[in-house]
Amino acid sequence: MRTHLCGETDERLAGQPVTLCGWVDRRRDLGGLIFIGLRDRAGVVQVVVEPDSPVFADAESLRNEYCVRIGGTVRMRPESQWNEAMATGKIEVVADTVELLNASAPMPLLMTDEDGEEVRLKYRYLDLRRPRMQHNLRLRARLYRAIRHSLDDQGFTELDTPILTKATPEGARDYLVPARVQPGQFYALPQSPQLFKQLFMMAGMDRYYQIARCFRDEDLRADRQPEFTQLDIEMAFVEEPDVQNLSETMMREVFRETLDVELPDPFPRLTWRGAMERYGSDKPDLRIPLELVSVDEHVAHVEFRVFAGPANDEGSRVAALRVPGAAGLSRKQLDDYAGYAGRYGARGLAWIKVNDAAAGLDGLQSPIAKFLDEQAWQGISAATGAASGDLLFFGAGDWLTVSTFMGALLVKVGRDLGLVGEGWQPLWVTEFPMFEWDDDEGRFLAMHHPFTAPAGNDAEALAADPANALSKGYDMVLNGAEIGGGSIRIHRPEMQQAVFSLLGIGEKEAQQKFGFLLEALRYGCPPHGGIAFGLDRIAALMAGEESICDVIAFPKTTTAQCLLTGAPSRVPEEQVAELHIRTVGDDE
Ligand code: AMO
Ligand code: AMP
Repeated sequence: MRTHLCGETDERLAGQPVTLCGWVDRRRDLGGLIFIGLRDRAGVVQVVVEPDSPVFADAESLRNEYCVRIGGTVRMRPESQWNEAMATGKIEVVADTVELLNASAPMPLLMTDEDGEEVRLKYRYLDLRRPRMQHNLRLRARLYRAIRHSLDDQGFTELDTPILTKATPEGARDYLVPARVQPGQFYALPQSPQLFKQLFMMAGMDRYYQIARCFRDEDLRADRQPEFTQLDIEMAFVEEPDVQNLSETMMREVFRETLDVELPDPFPRLTWRGAMERYGSDKPDLRIPLELVSVDEHVAHVEFRVFAGPANDEGSRVAALRVPGAAGLSRKQLDDYAGYAGRYGARGLAWIKVNDAAAGLDGLQSPIAKFLDEQAWQGISAATGAASGDLLFFGAGDWLTVSTFMGALLVKVGRDLGLVGEGWQPLWVTEFPMFEWDDDEGRFLAMHHPFTAPAGNDAEALAADPANALSKGYDMVLNGAEIGGGSIRIHRPEMQQAVFSLLGIGEKEAQQKFGFLLEALRYGCPPHGGIAFGLDRIAALMAGEESICDVIAFPKTTTAQCLLTGAPSRVPEEQVAELHIRTVGDDE
């Protein structure tokens, strides 16, 4: 139907006839001349219809988003009218045929960034016509291709795993599918291919990957969707550095091929504890040049109990955050930051404005200065490197709570004050705790998942002190986002059983849920490990998008609905009955 793409019609074609297909991006009538921006997947080109043209009337009837085929001749624009911002900006196409392929109803959206989320998702097929979305989806495809390139070259085999399967615990609720031929029974959609990829290692596949759809029924945010895509990887006969090095190499190749960006070699590594100490986060954004500093030793002796208490307690800390040049923040801004920290568990947020660093305590403005002495201040000042004009925030209390709220504050302040640097800052976070205590459930939960190997090989030692046990888990973090997580797995049945029991999964439940895995571990299972990357998050970072929705063709809303198709939706009663289930609370 066409000879060229609109967005590729440039000065090299000057004087030549072309036939183009696309959508009317914009139509302008200018003193008898009609200008049509014609858009296809490659971009926009300007079409001109002259007043004496036989197709003038046809062109006049065109409206936005009409689908057309236009034939004409490429002509150089006068130099004064060159648009350097457009690949096609030096030429225009003088139309001699205009064929309407299909008219469009008036557009329900503006087709700009002004459009609201709801209308964009309802008319997603129109929203996707926009250059920004076209770019994002094509970028995503290039990302996939680069990944396959890299992994295929390294001896990986791309393998599929089932979607109708048994629950794989990754910490979210399962999506269930009722089984028609087994009354009362359900499949679960996979939260990840975790168990199958481990079975592949037991099956001797050695190096597996899959671009896998995962399903998690959890509370949604900008970086979470109920169905999302992982790059899932598993390798046999490996230790942590093997998986990490391979992942790093792949990521460097992928960024080079997709964006022409060089990532650091090697990526920095932080232990989980170190990351929490210094950044108050297990996914620090290293582009923000702010750090937390523990000042416990300097305030352990002061009268101020809010500080002295935690400073003298092992499971607590007093952390300071120096914000250079921020002494000018208003009382209201400081109160707002205290409120923000409160959302992450802070009961208060002390601050000091350093008006004159040379004047010691007298140079400070702060509600807590009166509780400090010169010795305490000199210590704090040296530890934080405080200078005149700086602001210091302090958090005191339980180690994890303080680290967490001070970490959230660090990011908030960094963003508010425009301190986030340019570029790409990947890192590894390693040595995660094996378990985290869940107050609501009154039991330990797996920090990663129940198949992650503990750092030590001794199941008894693990059982004796689970709270302090570390795992062989690791996360890859990029610009403050957790883009991947993995671990070395348990490959012995006794250890797997021990971890289940620490997680409060009794033997019977373990058999019922994971009997096939425990059984498989008995037949010469190789040591193995792997990782999974969140491809939506990586694509969003690459595209510079805040939300992963902008790199997913047909995403769901925060209430897990597809506004385009109306899913989820009611189904006929007979269809439900056939599944041996009944819906309750029907009032329609
Ligand atoms: P994990 O649960 O950490 O690990 O998931 C791996 C990566 O997937 C991404 N991710 C998500 N992206 C979008 N929406 C979601 N709801 C969502 N949940 C997770 C994140 C995360 O880092 N089986 C293990 C991996 C392994 O051990 O090999 C797993 O699924 O970027
Ligand atoms: P108070 O004596 O409770 O009025 O607190 C005095 C100052 O200490 C106020 O500026 C509080 O915001 C601050 N503060 C109180 N609790 C904490 C805490 N846990 N961490 C940091 N600062 C706190």
